[in-house]
Amino acid sequence: MGGHVKLLVTGGAGYIGSVVAALLLEEGHEVTVLDDLSTGHRDAVPAGARFSQATIRDGARGVLSPSIHAVLHFAAKSLVGESVARPSLYWEHNLGGTLALLEAMRVTGVRRIVFSSTAAVYGDPERTPIEETCPTRPTSPYGASKLAVDTALAEYARLHGIGAVSLRYFNVAGAYQGRDGAWFGERHDGETHLIPNVLAAAPRLGTGGPGERVQIFGDDYPTPDGTPIRDYIHVTDLARAHLSALEACDPGRHRVYNLGNGTGSSVREVVEVCRQVTGADIPAQVAARRAGDPAVLVASSARIRAELGWTATRDLRAMVEDAWAFMKSTPVAGR
Ligand code: UFG
Repeated sequence: MGGHVKLLVTGGAGYIGSVVAALLLEEGHEVTVLDDLSTGHRDAVPAGARFSQATIRDGARGVLSPSIHAVLHFAAKSLVGESVARPSLYWEHNLGGTLALLEAMRVTGVRRIVFSSTAAVYGDPERTPIEETCPTRPTSPYGASKLAVDTALAEYARLHGIGAVSLRYFNVAGAYQGRDGAWFGERHDGETHLIPNVLAAAPRLGTGGPGERVQIFGDDYPTPDGTPIRDYIHVTDLARAHLSALEACDPGRHRVYNLGNGTGSSVREVVEVCRQVTGADIPAQVAARRAGDPAVLVASSARIRAELGWTATRDLRAMVEDAWAFMKSTPVAGR
């Protein structure tokens, strides 16, 4: 990128966006966060970032200017179940919002974008590990809306000369502690993700006794222990990939990269690591399968390793340790 630049981070009050914004500030860049706080938190915006509270549709034009080097675009609705119940919300926010952002970029002459795409674009894969060339057959409006954005990015690259990178995240976990000691982590209302849910069932300082029993959604999948296998990636590794992707925004080109560790862990394995890290005998019980969960989702990250030199460096235990440290630092987190 050549020195310090100005960057727009949409969704920078959310989990992944706030970690990336914090890293960018630590690298010496100027960061503006655009977030409507519909799911994000004002106090998650890292110190030193400018903040504008608005939707991307209403706010993008106001915060973009030719001096902005690139956009990192995290703002989105991201719950698979909610997307099935309310598909129009996902089309409107994820595709409609992004089209408004791309138009604002075109008009103001901002030519680089890194986009948060998802493993959900692949749906239920035929083979594993999943490569970027695998068929994209999303099984939810969430995945379909993200795939539609990937298509729009390819079009804007071809027709308007923007440089775009879509990063298809697998299961993001863990937390990040900034140089000033501030923690950035996952705190969704009505949390659905496995690791924060399991950790929330362990006793924490200041929160009294253990929470509810962990629900294991199905143990009759065709996997070694019967529970689904996912590819967990540490949010700090993921954030570093965004910094590499910024360097790879070549005008006129749309690149797509999967982002995972390349190893799978089952739900039972995750619960066991959470027990080891917390030292708590977290109670778990098998419940019915959750609709739409594929048995195995593991990424091939060979392309990003070969082209951008990125590799994951932190394992599942480090993710759970950091998620736990974050939860203990913010006692209301995770619920
Ligand atoms: N699970 C449980 N109990 C819980 C929570 C989750 O057993 O309390 C299981 C799920 O059934 C699944 C696994 O843990 O088998 C992981 O579930 P998560 O909700 O943590 O993550 P997903 O794999 O469902 O979701 C991820 C991303 C989504 C993306 C999706 C693609 O977070 O953004 O993969 O399938 F859309």
